[in-house]
Amino acid sequence: MEKLVFLTREDAWSFAMGELGALSGVRVVSLAPGAGLLLGEGDLTERVNALSPLFIRHIHPAERVIASMDALPAAAEELTRDYSGKKLAVHAVDLTGERGEGAILAALLDSPAIGRFETGPEEETVLSATRAKDGIYLGLSKSRDMLSPRAGGIYRYAMTPETVSRAAFKLTEVFDRLPLPAPREALDLGAAPGGWTRVLLERGARVTAVDPAKLDPRVEDDPRVTHYRGLSQDYLKEAGDKSFDYLVNDMRMDARESVRVTLEALPLLKSGGILVITLKLPEKGSLKRARDAMALLREEVGILFARQLYHNRSEITCVGKKP
Ligand SMILES: C[S@@+](CC[C@H](N)C(=O)[O-])C[C@H]1O[C@@H](n2cnc3c(N)ncnc32)[C@H](O)[C@@H]1O
Repeated sequence: MEKLVFLTREDAWSFAMGELGALSGVRVVSLAPGAGLLLGEGDLTERVNALSPLFIRHIHPAERVIASMDALPAAAEELTRDYSGKKLAVHAVDLTGERGEGAILAALLDSPAIGRFETGPEEETVLSATRAKDGIYLGLSKSRDMLSPRAGGIYRYAMTPETVSRAAFKLTEVFDRLPLPAPREALDLGAAPGGWTRVLLERGARVTAVDPAKLDPRVEDDPRVTHYRGLSQDYLKEAGDKSFDYLVNDMRMDARESVRVTLEALPLLKSGGILVITLKLPEKGSLKRARDAMALLREEVGILFARQLYHNRSEITCVGKKP
């Protein structure tokens, strides 16, 4: 019987269960709010990856379950004995609420096992330790198979006086996760107060920011920003033959309606251009709403990535490329 640790947003647990429901012969044990253990036959890492889940943030195999921290160094030694690579990342997540990630990492890094490797935060192979109330789950896996290369799928960014809005973290996370081209001419639908516009400016773009609401003066006054102070639907009637290499949309509206407006805007996006859209989801029926909206999008855009990001709330983020 294989075991796999998985993490979701706490309030997306039932949607993640809906996605895992497609796997036959598995069962789930809850480890903590938003964290579970999947048990079943076969390569569970491969089976979960094949689902392209929207609501599962991170996975790692649980090849050993260790009762106490004292036993961790020896278990790490045993697990990595046959690993021949030179580099290994070490991840720790503590689900017990005691925030003991530092202690877990210290125990692993002190192990003679780890002394054989160079360690870095984002290497190709990862030794993961997740501590739950009933033990520590330890596993070795390829970074690219874990749905996110970061420990627990967590992307932490500091709020600084420069931060225009928390929403900006969503687009920063997208750029941190995917090898996307630098934006040059971007159309930002639902731009206010300007967090995403600011992220695009920082990456070298000129931005047309569309929103009836005010932009933060630091964004509004930037000479590379054109603010259309109105609805996206009205902007699209007036846009003429303008052309962009990025189309981003964080509008607060129903996911399907937002996709419809995006598809109307699509002629303005160059071939090969990048689309980033957050799909706002209802409290109930989110999985179906997300899948319906994505099916509409997929008719005209190649989807590169779709997931509930660490910084998404009741929403998912899709990244696509215009053919
Ligand atoms: C979550 S906020 C966007 C935050 C922004 N991405 C940031 O980083 O600061 C959603 C925005 O969508 C805008 N919005 C809602 N419906 C719109 C529409 N039809 N056209 C343009 N903007 C719209 C709202 O005015 C609101 O400012």
